[in-house]
Amino acid sequence: MSNLIVNVNNPYDVIYEQGCLDRAGSIIADKLVFSRAFILTDRNVGPIYLERLEQSFKNEGKEVFSYKMDCGDTSKNLESYGFIIDKMVEIGIRKDDLIVALGGGVVGDMAGFISSSYMRGLNLIQIPTSFLAQIDSSIGGKTGLNTAFCKNVIGTISQPKLVLVDVDLIKTLPRKEVINGMGEAIKYAVLMGGESLGIIEKGLGGGNIERFIQLCGQYKSSLVEADEYDRGKRRLLNLGHTIGHAIETASDYSISHGLAVAKGIKFMMDVALKKGSIKETDYNRLISIFNKYGIDTSIDYDANELYKFVLLDKKGREGKISYIEILALGYCRISTIELESFKEMLDETLSNKN
Ligand SMILES: NC(=O)c1ccc[n+]([C@@H]2O[C@H](COP(=O)([O-])OP(=O)(O)OC[C@H]3O[C@@H](n4cnc5c(N)ncnc54)[C@H](O)[C@@H]3O)[C@@H](O)[C@H]2O)c1
Repeated sequence: MSNLIVNVNNPYDVIYEQGCLDRAGSIIADKLVFSRAFILTDRNVGPIYLERLEQSFKNEGKEVFSYKMDCGDTSKNLESYGFIIDKMVEIGIRKDDLIVALGGGVVGDMAGFISSSYMRGLNLIQIPTSFLAQIDSSIGGKTGLNTAFCKNVIGTISQPKLVLVDVDLIKTLPRKEVINGMGEAIKYAVLMGGESLGIIEKGLGGGNIERFIQLCGQYKSSLVEADEYDRGKRRLLNLGHTIGHAIETASDYSISHGLAVAKGIKFMMDVALKKGSIKETDYNRLISIFNKYGIDTSIDYDANELYKFVLLDKKGREGKISYIEILALGYCRISTIELESFKEMLDETLSNKN
Protein backbone atom coordinates (compact mmCIF):
# COMPACT_ATOMS: atom_id res chain seq x y z
CA MET A 1 0.00 0.00 0.00
CA SER A 2 1.20 3.51 -0.66
CA ASN A 3 -0.35 6.84 -0.21
CA LEU A 4 -0.21 10.10 -2.13
CA ILE A 5 -1.56 13.34 -0.69
CA VAL A 6 -2.88 15.86 -3.19
CA ASN A 7 -2.23 19.17 -1.46
CA VAL A 8 -4.91 21.40 -2.93
CA ASN A 9 -7.24 23.76 -1.03
CA ASN A 10 -8.98 20.74 0.44
CA PRO A 11 -6.23 18.09 0.47
CA TYR A 12 -7.11 14.46 -0.14
CA ASP A 13 -5.43 11.06 -0.28
CA VAL A 14 -4.90 8.78 -3.23
CA ILE A 15 -4.49 5.28 -1.82
CA TYR A 16 -2.76 2.67 -3.97
CA GLU A 17 -3.53 -0.78 -2.59
CA GLN A 18 -4.04 -4.06 -4.39
CA GLY A 19 -7.38 -5.56 -3.37
CA CYS A 20 -8.61 -2.40 -1.60
CA LEU A 21 -12.02 -2.63 -3.31
CA ASP A 22 -13.15 -5.08 -0.63
CA ARG A 23 -12.04 -2.70 2.13
CA ALA A 24 -13.38 0.46 0.47
CA GLY A 25 -16.28 0.87 2.92
CA SER A 26 -14.01 0.77 5.97
CA ILE A 27 -11.26 2.96 4.41
CA ILE A 28 -13.87 5.59 3.53
CA ALA A 29 -15.66 5.32 6.89
CA ASP A 30 -12.33 6.01 8.65
CA LYS A 31 -12.04 9.30 6.79
CA LEU A 32 -15.58 10.63 6.41
CA VAL A 33 -18.78 10.79 8.40
CA PHE A 34 -21.71 9.45 6.36
CA SER A 35 -24.46 6.90 6.66
CA ARG A 36 -25.46 6.29 3.04
CA ALA A 37 -23.56 5.88 -0.20
CA PHE A 38 -24.79 6.19 -3.78
CA ILE A 39 -22.56 4.23 -6.17
CA LEU A 40 -22.53 5.28 -9.80
CA THR A 41 -21.12 2.64 -12.14
CA ASP A 42 -21.77 1.50 -15.69
CA ARG A 43 -23.31 -1.54 -17.34
CA ASN A 44 -19.92 -3.23 -17.93
CA VAL A 45 -18.22 -2.53 -14.61
CA GLY A 46 -21.30 -2.94 -12.40
CA PRO A 47 -21.85 -6.66 -13.03
CA ILE A 48 -18.16 -7.37 -12.25
CA TYR A 49 -17.43 -5.24 -9.16
CA LEU A 50 -20.56 -3.59 -7.75
CA GLU A 51 -21.55 -6.39 -5.38
CA ARG A 52 -18.13 -6.42 -3.67
CA LEU A 53 -18.17 -2.67 -3.22
CA GLU A 54 -21.73 -2.70 -1.89
CA GLN A 55 -20.79 -5.44 0.56
CA SER A 56 -17.85 -3.42 1.86
CA PHE A 57 -20.28 -0.60 2.79
CA LYS A 58 -22.79 -2.99 4.32
CA ASN A 59 -20.00 -4.45 6.49
CA GLU A 60 -19.68 -0.95 7.99
CA GLY A 61 -23.43 -0.72 8.60
CA LYS A 62 -23.93 1.80 5.80
CA GLU A 63 -26.93 1.95 3.52
CA VAL A 64 -26.04 1.59 -0.18
CA PHE A 65 -27.79 2.56 -3.39
CA SER A 66 -26.49 2.22 -6.90
CA TYR A 67 -27.14 2.97 -10.52
CA LYS A 68 -25.54 1.50 -13.66
CA MET A 69 -25.36 4.10 -16.40
CA ASP A 70 -24.92 3.29 -20.10
CA CYS A 71 -21.29 2.86 -21.13
CA GLY A 72 -19.07 5.16 -23.08
CA ASP A 73 -18.60 8.79 -23.98
CA THR A 74 -21.93 8.98 -25.84
CA SER A 75 -23.60 8.65 -22.41
CA LYS A 76 -21.56 11.43 -20.79
CA ASN A 77 -24.20 14.03 -21.59
CA LEU A 78 -26.98 16.15 -20.11
CA GLU A 79 -29.65 13.60 -20.91
CA SER A 80 -27.99 10.87 -18.81
CA TYR A 81 -27.14 13.45 -16.17
CA GLY A 82 -30.81 14.45 -15.84
CA PHE A 83 -31.86 10.83 -15.72
CA ILE A 84 -29.39 9.95 -12.94
CA ILE A 85 -30.33 13.05 -10.95
CA ASP A 86 -34.01 12.00 -11.17
CA LYS A 87 -33.03 8.56 -9.89
CA MET A 88 -31.14 10.12 -6.98
CA VAL A 89 -34.09 12.31 -6.09
CA GLU A 90 -36.40 9.30 -6.31
CA ILE A 91 -34.13 7.32 -3.96
CA GLY A 92 -33.96 10.33 -1.65
CA ILE A 93 -30.18 10.98 -1.79
CA ARG A 94 -29.37 13.86 0.55
CA LYS A 95 -26.57 16.38 0.83
CA ASP A 96 -24.85 14.43 3.59
CA ASP A 97 -24.72 11.21 1.52
CA LEU A 98 -21.70 10.16 -0.53
CA ILE A 99 -21.42 9.59 -4.24
CA VAL A 100 -18.91 6.93 -5.26
CA ALA A 101 -17.64 6.62 -8.84
CA LEU A 102 -16.89 2.98 -9.68
CA GLY A 103 -15.75 2.93 -13.28
CA GLY A 104 -13.62 4.49 -15.96
CA GLY A 105 -13.27 8.14 -16.87
CA VAL A 106 -16.86 8.39 -18.11
CA VAL A 107 -18.37 7.33 -14.79
CA GLY A 108 -15.74 9.43 -12.97
CA ASP A 109 -16.55 12.59 -14.94
CA MET A 110 -20.30 12.06 -14.57
CA ALA A 111 -20.13 11.31 -10.82
CA GLY A 112 -17.79 14.30 -10.42
CA PHE A 113 -20.20 16.64 -12.16
CA ILE A 114 -23.10 15.29 -10.12
CA SER A 115 -21.08 15.72 -6.91
CA SER A 116 -20.44 19.36 -7.70
CA SER A 117 -24.03 20.15 -8.68
CA TYR A 118 -26.50 17.88 -6.86
CA MET A 119 -28.00 19.85 -3.97
CA ARG A 120 -25.02 22.20 -4.37
CA GLY A 121 -22.47 19.58 -3.48
CA LEU A 122 -22.02 15.98 -2.36
CA ASN A 123 -18.81 14.33 -1.16
CA LEU A 124 -17.20 12.30 -3.95
CA ILE A 125 -15.02 9.17 -3.81
CA GLN A 126 -13.28 7.98 -6.96
CA ILE A 127 -12.65 4.25 -7.45
CA PRO A 128 -11.16 4.13 -10.96
CA THR A 129 -11.45 0.83 -12.83
CA SER A 130 -9.86 1.60 -16.20
CA PHE A 131 -6.16 2.08 -16.86
CA LEU A 132 -6.87 5.60 -18.12
CA ALA A 133 -8.84 6.51 -15.00
CA GLN A 134 -6.19 5.05 -12.67
CA ILE A 135 -3.34 7.03 -14.22
CA ASP A 136 -5.19 10.22 -14.94
CA SER A 137 -8.86 11.10 -14.74
CA SER A 138 -9.59 10.08 -11.12
CA ILE A 139 -7.16 12.68 -9.74
CA GLY A 140 -7.46 16.44 -10.10
CA GLY A 141 -11.17 17.14 -9.85
CA LYS A 142 -12.01 17.92 -13.47
CA THR A 143 -15.53 16.88 -14.38
CA GLY A 144 -17.04 17.02 -17.83
CA LEU A 145 -20.10 16.35 -19.94
CA ASN A 146 -20.22 16.42 -23.74
CA THR A 147 -22.73 17.99 -26.09
CA ALA A 148 -23.25 16.84 -29.67
CA PHE A 149 -20.69 19.37 -30.91
CA CYS A 150 -18.25 19.76 -28.09
CA LYS A 151 -16.30 17.47 -25.81
CA ASN A 152 -16.35 18.23 -22.05
CA VAL A 153 -17.86 21.67 -22.65
CA ILE A 154 -19.99 21.39 -19.50
CA GLY A 155 -17.97 20.87 -16.36
CA THR A 156 -16.47 22.00 -13.10
CA ILE A 157 -13.30 21.60 -11.10
CA SER A 158 -14.32 19.95 -7.90
CA GLN A 159 -11.94 17.64 -6.04
CA PRO A 160 -12.87 14.22 -4.66
CA LYS A 161 -12.50 13.50 -0.96
CA LEU A 162 -10.54 10.31 -1.62
CA VAL A 163 -9.27 8.22 -4.53
CA LEU A 164 -8.85 4.45 -4.11
CA VAL A 165 -6.68 2.80 -6.75
CA ASP A 166 -6.87 -1.01 -6.85
CA VAL A 167 -4.66 -2.14 -9.71
CA ASP A 168 -6.33 -5.59 -9.66
CA LEU A 169 -9.46 -4.01 -11.13
CA ILE A 170 -7.86 -3.40 -14.51
CA LYS A 171 -7.34 -7.15 -14.98
CA THR A 172 -10.84 -7.39 -16.48
CA LEU A 173 -10.34 -4.44 -18.80
CA PRO A 174 -10.78 -5.49 -22.46
CA ARG A 175 -7.56 -5.23 -24.49
CA LYS A 176 -9.08 -2.45 -26.60
CA GLU A 177 -9.49 -0.35 -23.44
CA VAL A 178 -5.92 -1.01 -22.29
CA ILE A 179 -4.78 0.35 -25.66
CA ASN A 180 -7.13 3.31 -25.19
CA GLY A 181 -5.47 4.02 -21.83
CA MET A 182 -2.07 3.81 -23.50
CA GLY A 183 -2.81 7.10 -25.28
CA GLU A 184 -2.85 8.98 -21.94
CA ALA A 185 -0.03 6.76 -20.63
CA ILE A 186 2.21 7.78 -23.53
CA LYS A 187 1.25 11.39 -22.87
CA TYR A 188 2.66 11.08 -19.33
CA ALA A 189 5.81 9.36 -20.62
CA VAL A 190 6.36 12.19 -23.13
CA LEU A 191 5.78 14.85 -20.46
CA MET A 192 7.84 13.20 -17.71
CA GLY A 193 10.55 11.35 -19.64
CA GLY A 194 12.94 9.47 -17.34
CA GLU A 195 11.69 6.40 -15.50
CA SER A 196 8.14 6.50 -16.87
CA LEU A 197 9.40 6.64 -20.46
CA GLY A 198 11.72 3.73 -19.71
CA ILE A 199 8.81 1.67 -18.34
CA ILE A 200 6.66 2.38 -21.39
CA GLU A 201 9.52 1.37 -23.67
CA LYS A 202 10.18 -1.80 -21.70
CA GLY A 203 6.57 -2.84 -21.22
CA LEU A 204 4.03 -2.79 -18.41
CA GLY A 205 4.47 -6.40 -17.29
CA GLY A 206 5.32 -7.50 -13.77
CA GLY A 207 5.14 -4.77 -11.16
CA ASN A 208 5.85 -2.13 -13.83
CA ILE A 209 2.22 -1.20 -14.26
CA GLU A 210 1.78 -0.35 -10.56
CA ARG A 211 4.93 1.74 -10.54
CA PHE A 212 3.82 3.50 -13.72
CA ILE A 213 0.34 4.27 -12.35
CA GLN A 214 1.91 5.80 -9.23
CA LEU A 215 4.43 7.86 -11.22
CA CYS A 216 1.56 9.32 -13.26
CA GLY A 217 -0.39 10.08 -10.08
CA GLN A 218 2.61 11.85 -8.53
CA TYR A 219 3.21 13.91 -11.66
CA LYS A 220 -0.44 14.83 -12.08
CA SER A 221 -0.87 15.78 -8.45
CA SER A 222 2.23 18.01 -8.59
CA LEU A 223 0.66 19.95 -11.47
CA VAL A 224 -2.76 20.06 -9.81
CA GLU A 225 -1.19 21.36 -6.58
CA ALA A 226 0.65 24.08 -8.51
CA ASP A 227 -2.44 25.06 -10.51
CA GLU A 228 -5.66 23.61 -9.14
CA TYR A 229 -7.93 25.64 -11.43
CA ASP A 230 -6.09 24.96 -14.69
CA ARG A 231 -4.94 28.47 -15.49
CA GLY A 232 -1.23 27.74 -15.98
CA LYS A 233 1.12 24.81 -15.57
CA ARG A 234 -1.63 22.17 -15.33
CA ARG A 235 -2.36 22.80 -19.00
CA LEU A 236 0.68 20.69 -19.85
CA LEU A 237 -1.68 17.77 -19.33
CA ASN A 238 -3.50 18.91 -22.47
CA LEU A 239 -0.68 17.51 -24.61
CA GLY A 240 -2.29 16.06 -27.74
CA HIS A 241 -5.77 17.08 -26.57
CA THR A 242 -6.59 19.98 -28.94
CA ILE A 243 -6.35 17.71 -31.97
CA GLY A 244 -7.43 14.71 -29.87
CA HIS A 245 -10.72 16.28 -28.80
CA ALA A 246 -11.40 17.44 -32.38
CA ILE A 247 -10.86 13.88 -33.67
CA GLU A 248 -12.99 12.38 -30.91
CA THR A 249 -15.87 14.76 -31.63
CA ALA A 250 -15.53 14.48 -35.43
CA SER A 251 -15.75 10.69 -35.08
CA ASP A 252 -18.90 11.02 -32.98
CA TYR A 253 -16.91 9.34 -30.17
CA SER A 254 -16.32 6.17 -32.19
CA ILE A 255 -12.60 6.93 -31.74
CA SER A 256 -11.93 6.61 -28.02
CA HIS A 257 -10.44 9.43 -25.94
CA GLY A 258 -7.07 7.76 -25.39
CA LEU A 259 -6.65 6.76 -29.00
CA ALA A 260 -7.58 10.27 -30.13
CA VAL A 261 -5.01 11.71 -27.70
CA ALA A 262 -2.36 9.36 -29.14
CA LYS A 263 -3.17 10.68 -32.62
CA GLY A 264 -2.94 14.23 -31.22
CA ILE A 265 0.50 13.52 -29.70
CA LYS A 266 1.78 12.04 -32.96
CA PHE A 267 0.46 15.16 -34.74
CA MET A 268 2.41 17.40 -32.33
CA MET A 269 5.54 15.28 -32.86
CA ASP A 270 5.15 15.73 -36.64
CA VAL A 271 4.86 19.49 -36.12
CA ALA A 272 7.93 19.51 -33.86
CA LEU A 273 9.98 17.41 -36.29
CA LYS A 274 9.05 19.68 -39.19
CA LYS A 275 9.99 22.77 -37.18
CA GLY A 276 13.25 21.14 -36.18
CA SER A 277 12.43 21.56 -32.48
CA ILE A 278 12.91 17.86 -31.62
CA LYS A 279 15.66 15.44 -32.55
CA GLU A 280 14.89 12.72 -35.06
CA THR A 281 16.04 10.13 -32.50
CA ASP A 282 13.30 11.30 -30.09
CA TYR A 283 10.76 11.18 -32.89
CA ASN A 284 11.77 7.64 -33.80
CA ARG A 285 11.68 6.53 -30.15
CA LEU A 286 8.09 7.68 -29.92
CA ILE A 287 7.12 6.01 -33.19
CA SER A 288 8.61 2.75 -31.83
CA ILE A 289 6.45 3.10 -28.71
CA PHE A 290 3.28 3.56 -30.78
CA ASN A 291 4.26 0.51 -32.85
CA LYS A 292 5.08 -1.57 -29.78
CA TYR A 293 1.52 -1.12 -28.48
CA GLY A 294 -0.11 -1.36 -31.91
CA ILE A 295 -1.52 2.17 -31.71
CA ASP A 296 -2.85 3.52 -34.97
CA THR A 297 -1.86 7.20 -35.06
CA SER A 298 -3.22 7.94 -38.53
CA ILE A 299 -5.69 10.81 -38.87
CA ASP A 300 -8.49 10.26 -41.38
CA TYR A 301 -9.93 13.76 -41.20
CA ASP A 302 -8.88 16.75 -43.21
CA ALA A 303 -7.81 20.07 -41.74
CA ASN A 304 -11.17 21.77 -42.38
CA GLU A 305 -13.14 19.03 -40.64
CA LEU A 306 -10.96 19.20 -37.54
CA TYR A 307 -10.67 22.99 -37.49
CA LYS A 308 -14.45 23.29 -37.04
CA PHE A 309 -14.07 21.54 -33.68
CA VAL A 310 -10.81 23.28 -32.76
CA LEU A 311 -12.77 26.56 -32.90
CA LEU A 312 -15.05 25.22 -30.15
CA ASP A 313 -12.11 24.20 -27.94
CA LYS A 314 -12.03 25.55 -24.38
CA LYS A 315 -8.38 26.46 -24.88
CA GLY A 316 -9.27 29.14 -27.47
CA ARG A 317 -9.28 32.80 -26.42
CA GLU A 318 -9.39 36.12 -28.32
CA GLY A 319 -8.43 34.67 -31.67
CA LYS A 320 -5.65 32.56 -30.14
CA ILE A 321 -5.33 29.01 -28.91
CA SER A 322 -2.93 27.35 -26.55
CA TYR A 323 -1.35 24.00 -27.31
CA ILE A 324 1.47 21.91 -25.91
CA GLU A 325 4.68 21.95 -27.85
CA ILE A 326 7.08 19.00 -27.64
CA LEU A 327 10.74 20.01 -27.46
CA ALA A 328 12.13 16.63 -26.39
CA LEU A 329 10.84 13.47 -24.75
CA GLY A 330 10.50 14.70 -21.17
CA TYR A 331 10.41 18.40 -22.09
CA CYS A 332 7.22 20.12 -23.28
CA ARG A 333 5.99 23.69 -22.99
CA ILE A 334 2.72 25.60 -23.23
CA SER A 335 2.54 27.80 -26.35
CA THR A 336 -0.11 30.13 -27.67
CA ILE A 337 -0.65 30.90 -31.34
CA GLU A 338 -3.13 32.73 -33.55
CA LEU A 339 -6.00 30.48 -34.62
CA GLU A 340 -5.11 31.18 -38.24
CA SER A 341 -1.58 29.89 -37.68
CA PHE A 342 -3.01 26.82 -35.96
CA LYS A 343 -5.16 26.23 -39.05
CA GLU A 344 -2.03 26.53 -41.24
CA MET A 345 -0.28 24.01 -38.97
CA LEU A 346 -3.23 21.64 -39.48
CA ASP A 347 -3.21 22.18 -43.26
CA GLU A 348 0.53 21.60 -43.58
CA THR A 349 0.81 18.63 -41.23
CA LEU A 350 -2.24 16.79 -42.51
CA SER A 351 -1.40 17.34 -46.14
CA ASN A 352 1.90 15.44 -45.59
CA LYS A 353 -0.32 12.77 -44.13
CA ASN A 354 0.53 10.17 -41.58
N1 LIG B 1 -11.52 14.33 -15.59
C1 LIG B 1 -10.34 14.21 -16.13
O1 LIG B 1 -9.34 14.75 -15.67
C2 LIG B 1 -10.20 13.35 -17.36
C3 LIG B 1 -8.92 13.04 -17.87
C4 LIG B 1 -8.82 12.19 -18.97
C5 LIG B 1 -9.96 11.66 -19.55
N2 LIG B 1 -11.19 12.00 -19.04
C6 LIG B 1 -12.41 11.42 -19.62
O2 LIG B 1 -12.38 10.03 -19.37
C7 LIG B 1 -13.15 9.37 -20.37
C8 LIG B 1 -12.38 8.19 -20.88
O3 LIG B 1 -12.15 7.31 -19.79
P1 LIG B 1 -12.04 5.73 -20.02
O4 LIG B 1 -11.09 5.46 -21.11
O5 LIG B 1 -11.86 5.13 -18.70
O6 LIG B 1 -13.46 5.40 -20.64
P2 LIG B 1 -14.74 4.62 -20.07
O7 LIG B 1 -15.10 5.09 -18.74
O8 LIG B 1 -15.74 4.71 -21.16
O9 LIG B 1 -14.22 3.13 -19.91
C9 LIG B 1 -13.86 2.43 -21.08
C10 LIG B 1 -14.65 1.13 -21.22
O10 LIG B 1 -14.09 0.17 -20.35
C11 LIG B 1 -15.09 -0.38 -19.49
N3 LIG B 1 -14.43 -0.66 -18.23
C12 LIG B 1 -13.89 0.23 -17.36
N4 LIG B 1 -13.27 -0.41 -16.37
C13 LIG B 1 -13.42 -1.73 -16.60
C14 LIG B 1 -12.97 -2.92 -15.93
N5 LIG B 1 -12.21 -2.86 -14.86
N6 LIG B 1 -13.34 -4.11 -16.44
C15 LIG B 1 -14.07 -4.19 -17.59
N7 LIG B 1 -14.50 -3.12 -18.26
C16 LIG B 1 -14.17 -1.90 -17.78
C17 LIG B 1 -16.17 0.67 -19.43
O11 LIG B 1 -17.41 0.10 -19.13
C18 LIG B 1 -16.12 1.24 -20.85
O12 LIG B 1 -16.86 0.42 -21.72
C19 LIG B 1 -13.45 10.39 -21.43
O13 LIG B 1 -14.77 10.81 -21.30
C20 LIG B 1 -12.50 11.53 -21.11
O14 LIG B 1 -12.99 12.77 -21.52
C21 LIG B 1 -11.32 12.79 -17.96
